[in-house]
Amino acid sequence: MQKRRLVTSALPYVNNIPHLGNLIQVLSADVFSRYCRQAGFETLYICGTDEYGTATETKALEEGITPKELCDRFYVIHRDIYHWFGIAFDKFGRTSDREQTEITQQMFLDLDAYGFILEQTIEQLYLPSKEMFLADRYVRGVCPACAYKEARGDQCENCGKLLEPTELLQPWTPLAPGEPLVIRPTKHLYIDLPKLKDKLEAWIAEASARGNWARNAVKMTEAWIRDGLKPRAITRDLKWGIPVPKTGWENKVFYVWFDAPIGYISMTAALRPNDWKSWWQNQENVELYQFIGKDNIPFHTVVFPSSLLGSGRPWTMLHTMSSSEYLNYESGKFSKSAGTGVFGNDVQTTGIAADIWRFYLFYNRPEKNDTLFAWKEFQERVNSDLIGNLANLVNRTLTFYTKNFGPHVLRPAEHTGLWKSARESEARIRAHLEKAELRDALKETLDLADLGNKLFQDSEPWKLVKSDPAAAQDLLANLVHLVRDLGLLIEPYLPTTGAKIRQFLTVASDRWDQLGQLTGGLVVAPIEILFKKLEDEEITKWQAQFAGSQKERKDALDTQAPETPAPKIPVPPAESFRQRIDLRVAKILEVRQHPAADKLYIELLETAPGVTSQIVSGLAPYYKPEELAGHHILLAANLKPAKLRGEMSNGMLLAASRLSPTGDKEIVEVIFADDIAVGTPLDLEGDAPRAVGSELKPQISIDTFFATPLRMEGGQLVTGEVALKAGGKGLKTSKVLNGEVG
Ligand code: MF3
Ligand code: ZN
Repeated sequence: MQKRRLVTSALPYVNNIPHLGNLIQVLSADVFSRYCRQAGFETLYICGTDEYGTATETKALEEGITPKELCDRFYVIHRDIYHWFGIAFDKFGRTSDREQTEITQQMFLDLDAYGFILEQTIEQLYLPSKEMFLADRYVRGVCPACAYKEARGDQCENCGKLLEPTELLQPWTPLAPGEPLVIRPTKHLYIDLPKLKDKLEAWIAEASARGNWARNAVKMTEAWIRDGLKPRAITRDLKWGIPVPKTGWENKVFYVWFDAPIGYISMTAALRPNDWKSWWQNQENVELYQFIGKDNIPFHTVVFPSSLLGSGRPWTMLHTMSSSEYLNYESGKFSKSAGTGVFGNDVQTTGIAADIWRFYLFYNRPEKNDTLFAWKEFQERVNSDLIGNLANLVNRTLTFYTKNFGPHVLRPAEHTGLWKSARESEARIRAHLEKAELRDALKETLDLADLGNKLFQDSEPWKLVKSDPAAAQDLLANLVHLVRDLGLLIEPYLPTTGAKIRQFLTVASDRWDQLGQLTGGLVVAPIEILFKKLEDEEITKWQAQFAGSQKERKDALDTQAPETPAPKIPVPPAESFRQRIDLRVAKILEVRQHPAADKLYIELLETAPGVTSQIVSGLAPYYKPEELAGHHILLAANLKPAKLRGEMSNGMLLAASRLSPTGDKEIVEVIFADDIAVGTPLDLEGDAPRAVGSELKPQISIDTFFATPLRMEGGQLVTGEVALKAGGKGLKTSKVLNGEVG
């Protein structure tokens, strides 16, 4: 009986956009799980977003939105990027889903019942005005060792000393500069790792050998154990997290690293509500393969397994750990915080197919060492190894065959030299993949293509076909079967390309049990060119375009289009609209009276499928709530969030207005768009329409918004002379046919 395979990749934090370095793990687990499926294993690939914690809460605070809103926004961004890269998750879930709370709380109750939870009181810095305890990274102050003024709460950047935040002299926080912090006692819950030590060590010794953990995982885990296990806090003073199910702990939540790995389980439960335990509590029949970056190792080999072991339930434990090293960018590091490198959303703008990116990322996978993404090398490898070698063999073999012998490929006499090497090579590829050595397996696959090209070249079929056509056909039929094998072998890495090669050969099944079999019965269908070479000019362009940080790139853009209400050189309204204004169709879910202002309503909107957001509008004098609720409207979607009389407003609803004929009152008409789907962007007539869910234009102030004139003309929404369209449709009013829009 073959064991089933449960594959995971580290759950990405959802407060930023992933770059190529982050994508490695998600892609690696994709290749591995695709391989497993093709090799006939029953497989599940689970991933999703890691949403709770300080970083999310703070970022939301900065942006003036709720953590949930922030996560909703980034969840979609992540999901779409992975989709673009062709990643075949069985489930891409969220840690903010209900199952996560249930399973995390139960895990805690189990640990507590078995006596593995401790309570300790510690001194922590407290910000009185916000009534919050501060995590290390939000504290600055004077270093007690070297008197450096800007030391961080966890470490002094000047002298390198590791610090406790309470050791800083004159501590302060960037969250409220100038406000003095106080030290207060607070209690936290801890998982008692020392008490779990024996169980844990026995498990590590056995599992790391049996599951062939990556070398860095073994080393780092050993170091953790050697340095002594200490109790680890599993609660935090935050709001954005999973509540602690214990009386007296209502104001704390679980630490994000306590709940995050449980996400693997809860996302499986969300996918398979009735049989998730047959995956997660079934060590006998399931092997768990985890793909992570090296910075996450101890959480997956020490801390999370401790929770599982201490809970007293028969959890499926880690089998194989594939922890990759870092992918660096050109001369430096990829960095989310500094915005250096190529990001998931950038990649889509280059017009280079996802398979080409996948090829180079695996060719260059930081499997046993850090590696470097370099544009020049990217070009060379793609042009010579992917196109010059693999794609070339596919193309020349199939073209030559059909031209000389027609579409039908019968079973040839076996070319023993070729197939002896090919089968050995295929065995090595499988062995590498079984150890999650994805880069080695890809190189081996390219070597096999190379072997095919050499055989083609050396046998000179263009001569042979004249002297001995039957021998030529036999040789080529052998090569066609090799092309079929290469298509199957490359499919986990390049899913679109693999499927195309099978299509060229009319092979329906992607199963690897065909490998090395001279089956015959193949029919060569019309083929197309698989890839286009990367040209020098393109590479130079992208190299320049993606130099510097994201922020610098954005600043450069802002200088081209300064965000000023009155630009010195007048910009035509249409151009100004194109650069700055982002309008989207949204649905009003609910309308409430603003508690502090008679004229204002608070509207809850659906701004993209499944994404909600709140705005405040001055419509109370003109509409009853029930005249608005349920309708689709137009939202200025990229406005800086603002507080209106104490209520958050994330944008502005568009209405047209004009003075009444008597000139004594204003007539206001909301521009409804009931027949247009939620999330649809508005674009200038004649411009390519953007898709639902496409990235918003940069944020602008309300002044910038009003600097671009929007008007109703003859009942049509226009800017300058140009009509605006959403999903190909114009936007219309029936009462205010001519008037200002705002
Ligand atoms: N969100 C973490 C990171 O991006 C990884 C979490 S992995 C999990 O570094 F196990 F917690 F899910
Ligand atoms: Zn110092």
